[in-house]
Amino acid sequence: MEARVCVLAGDGVGKEVTTESMKVLEAICKKFDHNFEFIHALVGGAAIDKYNNPIPSESMNLALGSDAILFGAVGGPKWDNPSADMRPEDAILALRKRLGLYANMRPVKVYPELIHSSPLRPEYLKDVDFVIVRELTGGLYFGRPKRRSASTRGRRAVDTLAYSEKEIARVVRVAFELAKSRRKRLHSLDKMNVLETGRLWREIANEVSRDYPEVELIHMLADNAAMKIITNPSDFDVIVAENSIGDILSDEASVITGSMGMLPSASLASSPPPPGKRRGRRGRPALYEPIHGSAPDIAGHNVANPVASFLSASLMLRWSFGLHEEADEIENAINKIISEGYRTVDIAGENDHKLSTSQMGDLVAGIISSGPKT
Ligand code: IPM
Ligand code: MG
Repeated sequence: MEARVCVLAGDGVGKEVTTESMKVLEAICKKFDHNFEFIHALVGGAAIDKYNNPIPSESMNLALGSDAILFGAVGGPKWDNPSADMRPEDAILALRKRLGLYANMRPVKVYPELIHSSPLRPEYLKDVDFVIVRELTGGLYFGRPKRRSASTRGRRAVDTLAYSEKEIARVVRVAFELAKSRRKRLHSLDKMNVLETGRLWREIANEVSRDYPEVELIHMLADNAAMKIITNPSDFDVIVAENSIGDILSDEASVITGSMGMLPSASLASSPPPPGKRRGRRGRPALYEPIHGSAPDIAGHNVANPVASFLSASLMLRWSFGLHEEADEIENAINKIISEGYRTVDIAGENDHKLSTSQMGDLVAGIISSGPKT
């Protein structure tokens, strides 16, 4: 098949990991006779430096005109001045909003071989395999008013947490669909004991659940969930939550697995298509990105873990292009190198083979190229 993939590498390690993902995707294309055209555009701090705009319209238009977006990361200390009137992060927020990517899927899976990299005791980590479905275009991130003001009593700032029924229902539905295809358990998080939006969230989740009698719906207060994610992570199958709650809990959840460098994400404008089907061509492009950020402390040193980006590329094949066999190839190659002890430094133990970012890319691409189709 032919596809246009918009590569928005961004800043810091974003560039290093997406370069390696393209190697991996090229190996897939060669093996399965596909043709991906990679279109590169500037976003984030790099775009601020060149165009004084974190997401110039040319980059936005290239993204809009593509079949899927492979995103790296944005941000860095250079652009961190809190009083600056633009930030690299505005790029990803604008993309999410403009492309209508309301459902952010963040799978959290523990690789048995990496259990020692987790700060949690191994007995807590058995069978951990859940997905956080984070609402991505509403909630506290986007509500209006959102502003700073000065008064005689000092500076003031306001952000707004607002949701419409429709915004809640569509993301909860995506989560139910996903739970239906997995272990049929959905935890819906809210702060209904304090927030009006939390009460609406719970009400809508109950209403949507009528269409999914086979899925067990469990409501949980978000703060309680923060504790349970650490004490009972294997209890979860699918979790759905408001934008900022999902943001915070997904970083927390990444710690369980031992490295943020292993976790991919997909931001979608609809439910993922069922296995075997591909998303309609006319649908809006989905965006795939590692959950880790630009990691300025290690950027440029060729040490970042590219696996989260590889897994994001694999989700792209699966969910945007319906290429499940090809996605399996990437995941199998990653499982193979992990089981053989190849690691970047973030997860390497004493006896592991330590590889750089680019060596990981070469290794995974090489396994895909040289092996038979799995
Ligand atoms: C994430 C990140 C972003 C967010 C930042 C970079 C704006 O933390 O994708 O989780 O807060 O959504
Ligand atoms: Mg985050």
